[in-house]
Amino acid sequence: MNKVKIKSPANIAFIKYWGQKDKKNFLPYNDSFSMNLSSCYTILEIEKKEDPEIKKLYVKEYEKDDFEVKTDDSFKKVITFYHRAKEFLKVKKDYGFVIYSANSFPKKAGLASSASFFSALALGFSWLFEKNLDTKNLSILARLSGSGSSCRSIPDGFSWWYKGKKSSNSYAVSIAPPSYWDLVDLVLILNKEEKKVSSLEGHLRAETSGLFRYRLLSLEERIKEIKNAFFKKNFTYFGYLLEEEAVSMHSVVMTQKPPLFYWSGKTVEIIKKIIEERKKGLEGYFTIDAGENIHLICQKKDEEKFLNFFKKQKEVLQIIKNYPDFGTRFI
Ligand code: DP6
Repeated sequence: MNKVKIKSPANIAFIKYWGQKDKKNFLPYNDSFSMNLSSCYTILEIEKKEDPEIKKLYVKEYEKDDFEVKTDDSFKKVITFYHRAKEFLKVKKDYGFVIYSANSFPKKAGLASSASFFSALALGFSWLFEKNLDTKNLSILARLSGSGSSCRSIPDGFSWWYKGKKSSNSYAVSIAPPSYWDLVDLVLILNKEEKKVSSLEGHLRAETSGLFRYRLLSLEERIKEIKNAFFKKNFTYFGYLLEEEAVSMHSVVMTQKPPLFYWSGKTVEIIKKIIEERKKGLEGYFTIDAGENIHLICQKKDEEKFLNFFKKQKEVLQIIKNYPDFGTRFI
């Protein structure tokens, strides 16, 4: 077999990764926690070439018909990752490859958009180098791509990323399968334009926020509490912590030097509407990654009501409905 096909989900962080303690190995300051998303994924095909000179990346953007060859920054990141993977897997021989990658969701959906791609590629490169890795090592490899959150897309369902003290113990595990809890993530697209500052650049400045130290201190408690709420399926407390966490991360983001403002006026409008609806008895909670779009987390029983509500809101351009999903796999 000289070709394989891989499917890998994006994930939404309930506890966020922001800031890198070790910038060379992409080690985070804190544990993080996420859910794999059923409708936001990458399908990646990788073909092995004996000629190491052949290295190509083709990408099909969301809603486009054709694959385009990439020679820009995204291709450079793939080559950098190829060399890191080779070193991590202790492989001497060089291979060529041709990659075809397509996303099921708009690139700027307010998701850590590269997580699904790099987790898929981690499995792709381990196959290329003829290594059969367990979930732990595959997630370490994914982390080394530079898109740290991609390590959480590897295990099934709900993932916990242990921050670790060194590269070999900073990895993600599944803490519950997709069927564990019927949560729904409605991604509310408020803007389809590209964000101006990447998460990667953002991470580098996290420590310059005066609030960063306080965030790390408060996280100790929040991490314990959210785990409790999750295992008790206490949705109300879980949701409260979810929002507290999102606001905590964005407070750091907005007070870094230079500050970053991922939220827009529309983000704030929708947050207010979610809180209003909650007061009226429709229970859902927001969380936001490095973008202005919102993830509304609710229970399956309220999904239709929320869909009807958000379809009527002028700020919302598109809604993507997600359930918990499996991790990175061959298809
Ligand atoms: C705010 O460095 O993993 O989404 O490379 O853009 O995929 P990308 O992001 P990464 O940082 C993710 C930051 C975050 C929070 C999170 O997902 O934990």
